[in-house]
Amino acid sequence: MCGIIGYVGDKNSVPFLIEGLKRLEYRGYDSAGIAVAENGHIHRVRAVGKVAELEKASLLENPRGCCGIGHTRWATHGKPSQENSHPHTDCSGDIVVVHNGIIENYLSLKEKLQALGHKFQSETDTEVIAHLIEENLKHVHAETDEQRFFRAVMKTSDELQGAFAYGVLWAKTPNQIIGVKNQSPLVVGLGEGENFLASDVPAFLKYTNKVLFLEDGQTVVLRPEKTVVYGMDGKETKVKPTKVAWDQKTAEKSGFKHFMLKEIYDQPQALEDTLRTAQADFMRILGLKTEDLRRIKNIYLVACGTAYHAALIGKYYLENFAGVTASVDLASEFKYRTIPPAKDTLCIAVSQSGETADTLGAVKKAKELGFKRLAICNVLGSGLTRACGSVFYTHCGPEISVASTKAFTSQIISLYALSIFLGHASGNISRGQFDKLYKEMMALPKAVAETLKIEYDVRHLTKKVYKANRFIFLGRNVDYPIALEGALKLKEISYTSAEGFAAGEIKHGPISVIDKGTPVIILMPKDHLFDKMLSAAQECRARGAFVIAVTTPDGSEEAAAVTDKRILVPKTGEYLQPVLNVIALQFFAYWVAKRLGRDIDQPRNLAKSVTVE
Ligand code: G6P
Repeated sequence: MCGIIGYVGDKNSVPFLIEGLKRLEYRGYDSAGIAVAENGHIHRVRAVGKVAELEKASLLENPRGCCGIGHTRWATHGKPSQENSHPHTDCSGDIVVVHNGIIENYLSLKEKLQALGHKFQSETDTEVIAHLIEENLKHVHAETDEQRFFRAVMKTSDELQGAFAYGVLWAKTPNQIIGVKNQSPLVVGLGEGENFLASDVPAFLKYTNKVLFLEDGQTVVLRPEKTVVYGMDGKETKVKPTKVAWDQKTAEKSGFKHFMLKEIYDQPQALEDTLRTAQADFMRILGLKTEDLRRIKNIYLVACGTAYHAALIGKYYLENFAGVTASVDLASEFKYRTIPPAKDTLCIAVSQSGETADTLGAVKKAKELGFKRLAICNVLGSGLTRACGSVFYTHCGPEISVASTKAFTSQIISLYALSIFLGHASGNISRGQFDKLYKEMMALPKAVAETLKIEYDVRHLTKKVYKANRFIFLGRNVDYPIALEGALKLKEISYTSAEGFAAGEIKHGPISVIDKGTPVIILMPKDHLFDKMLSAAQECRARGAFVIAVTTPDGSEEAAAVTDKRILVPKTGEYLQPVLNVIALQFFAYWVAKRLGRDIDQPRNLAKSVTVE
C-alpha cells in the first residue's frame, strides 16, 4: 500500500525511479510522482493514474538529477488527484517527502503549522512531514547543511505518531536522501557508487541484491558512496547487509501476459523451494522443539484475504494431524474480540507480505496475551517476521500480481508440513502414517506441474460462462476454504459477484440465489464425501444451475451424470487435493477476467499489501 523509491548515485536518477515505481506498482496505483534535485532546486513531476502516466509526463518535462525520490499511491487521506499525489513539499518547494503509512496526529500538527504561517496544498497527512521539517530546520543548528537537515528530520520523526515510513530530499543537500522507518516497510539496496531506498526489494533487485533491512525507529542517510543507519538516539548503528536470494527473473513476467498467469505457473517451483527447507526449519524453529510441542493445547490462526483461506485449511490439518484444537480468525476481528488468556497457546500468523496492518495488530494482541507466535511469511525481514518469535518462510520469490496464487499454495503446504511434523513429534500420528503423508507431500510439486496442463480446458470452458453476473463455488471439508478462495479470486479480478459456500449449507439459504444458468462450480474430488457432493450438484442442477465439477479422473464418470462440465485434476492425498483443485479456480478466475478485459494484475480499488487498518 503505497510504494516508495529513492536513488542516489552518479547517474540520472529518473529512469531508476520510474523503473522502481513500476515494480512497486502492486502496492498502489492511484497516482504517482517523482522529485529530483536539479541544479539547486527540486524538479517534481506527478500524474494521476498508473506509473505509465507519470512516465509520459516525465518524458515531456525531462527532469534530470543524480538524487531523487518517487512514490506510487493507494489513497488513504484525500482522493486520487494531482494535488494529493506524492512527493509533497514544504512552503519553499525545496523539501520533498514521499510517505507510506498514516500520520495519526497530522490534524493537530497541521493546525499548529498553519498557525505558524505554513500553507498547505493537499488534503494528505504526508504534507505535514515536509512543513514540520521546514519548521524544525529553523530551530536546529549544525556545522553543515547535511547535519542540520539530519537533525531536523530526527526531530520531526519524534513528533509524528502512527505507523509510517518516509523518504525525504532537500534541494540544499542534493547528494543525500534520508529515510525513516517506523512500523511500515523500508529497505535499502547497496550498489556500487549508488544506493537505493524502497518499500520492497524488487524495486532495485535488477541492480543489487545486497539489502539492509531497517528496524523500526531507524533513520538512514544515503549518499552515493556511503549509507549510514542511525538509531532513535541519533547514534550510528551497524546493520549487517543481507544477500537476498531472489533474482531479477523471479520479478519479471518472463513472456507471460500477466504476472498472475506467470505466478500460477511458478507454483511447482515455489512449492519445491518451500518444501526443501520445511523439515529442517520446522524442527529448528525455536519454542517448537519436541518437548514444547507436547505442551501446546490451543492454536489461533490469524490472517487476512487469501492468507485467511490458507489458515482455514490449516485448521483442518492441525486438528487432523497434530490433534491440537485450532481456531481461525480474520486478523481484523481477532484484534477486537475478547480472547481468554490461556497457557501453552500458539498464534500462527499467515501472510505473504508480512506487512498487513491487521495481521500485525493481531500478533501484537497475541503477544500481550502471552501466546507464542509463529509467522508463515514470504518476505524476509518484514514486520511480521520481527513481531513473531519464530518464522517459517515460504519460498515463492516475489509475488507481484495483486491476486495471490503461489503464496496461497505455499502457505497451505507450509501448514500441512507443520501439522504432520507436529503430529509426528507429539505422537498423534504413527511413524507409518507420517511416512506416507510425507511422501505425498514431497511428490506434490510434480502433481502441481501436471495440473497446470488443464489451463487450455478451463480457458475453453470460461467462454460459456464469463458473462454471468453471479458465480457460486461449493466445497466441503478441506475444499470449503478452496470454494471461498475461488470466489475471492474471481471477485478480485473480474469485479463479478461470486460467493463460496460449504456445500452442505446451500440448502439452508444460498440455494435461493440459483437461477437458470447460474454457474455453480463444485469441488468434488472422488473422496469419502464424493456422494454428498453428487447430491449437492443435483440439487443445484434441479434449480437450473450450470454446474461445473472440479473432480479427479476416478470421479469423472459419476460426475458427468449430474453436471454440465468437468475439469479433471490429478489425484493426490485427500488433504493435499485442495492444492490441485485451487489451480483450476485460479485459471478460471484468470480467464473470466481476461475475457472481460479486466486489469488482471492491478484490479481496481485493491492493493497487494494493506498497511493501514
Ligand atoms: C490484500 C490483498 C490480498 C491478500 C491480503 C493479505 O487484501 O489484496 O490479495 O490476500 O491483503 O495479504 P498478506 O500479505 O497478509 O498475505
